[in-house]
Amino acid sequence: MAEPRPKVWVSQPLFDDIVERLHAHFDVVQVPVVSEHDTSAIADALREADGALVTLNERIGSDEVAGASKLRAIANVGVGYNNLDIDALQARDIVATNTPDVLTETTADFGFALMMAAARRVTEAERHLRAGRWQGWNFKGLLGADLHGSTLGILGMGRIGQGIAKRASGFDMRVVYHNRSRLPADVEREFNASYVDFDTLLAQADHLVLVLPYSSASHHIVDAAALAKMKSTATLTNIARGGIVDEAALADALGSGRLASAALDVFEGEPTVDPRLLALDNIVLTPHIASGSLATRRAMVALAVDNLIAALGAGPDAGHPPSVIAPAANDGKSAKRPGTA
Ligand code: DGY
Repeated sequence: MAEPRPKVWVSQPLFDDIVERLHAHFDVVQVPVVSEHDTSAIADALREADGALVTLNERIGSDEVAGASKLRAIANVGVGYNNLDIDALQARDIVATNTPDVLTETTADFGFALMMAAARRVTEAERHLRAGRWQGWNFKGLLGADLHGSTLGILGMGRIGQGIAKRASGFDMRVVYHNRSRLPADVEREFNASYVDFDTLLAQADHLVLVLPYSSASHHIVDAAALAKMKSTATLTNIARGGIVDEAALADALGSGRLASAALDVFEGEPTVDPRLLALDNIVLTPHIASGSLATRRAMVALAVDNLIAALGAGPDAGHPPSVIAPAANDGKSAKRPGTA
């Protein structure tokens, strides 16, 4: 008798023509509508599964995989993976993969767009106009801050941080960065970026962009004390994960004029946004769309599908998924914590 085909669970609707490739190798159960899955729903879905394709909406840790005796692979559609408890998966020999590289440029584009929008008050100005408050051209109305000639601070100088630095050179910005480890000198030269300590980054940046992974070490790294070290004219942009910024402290800083403006694409309690942030004018708020170009979201799904096929021992890369998450790289231990980059 033929071996039964492995079973895989796909947690959300993605792109059918790409997910279709799984059907050549596996029996696929796909959730047809965008859904929230709690622990018991995920545990039920994984109980009979050999593999799963999941998004950042699904938190997967020891409780979710406790009854999943056949589970061998989790393919995350996203580069950030603090929705996964890598230690818990590794303890059960479950391979975890993510989707780096394919979203770098798109996410860097969006980070730059948000930074510009915050500096030049783009969404605030549009709301002003749409509300009928524009009474005529006003020489001193809605004045913002320049990007050109200013200092860009990047916290987290991985692929996306480097993409933002690359864009900054076209704006004649000076780039300073802080990272867990300093980049080699040739990479610093390539991006014209200088390494500084965290406090210097806060003090020197006219525009600070957060692109670091979320972990217990980066939880609320931008808190009231950090914000107090920034220039009052500065902007803060977060395209990483919500938990990196203490949102209450940010709301205070923006409300009191301690910080000029901010742009957030990620939030601690997604999809809920702190009402104090919603009430402010000097903040740009977008619903976690930094990687959201059609081409890039398709590329993310394609890579996740390749990862899953390979991790389950099929296809041309059988046994060698293109982007396995190295267990040591996960310092998040945060499957129960909100939202990473
Ligand atoms: C990621 O890949 O981590 C993004 O935040 C989701 O697109």
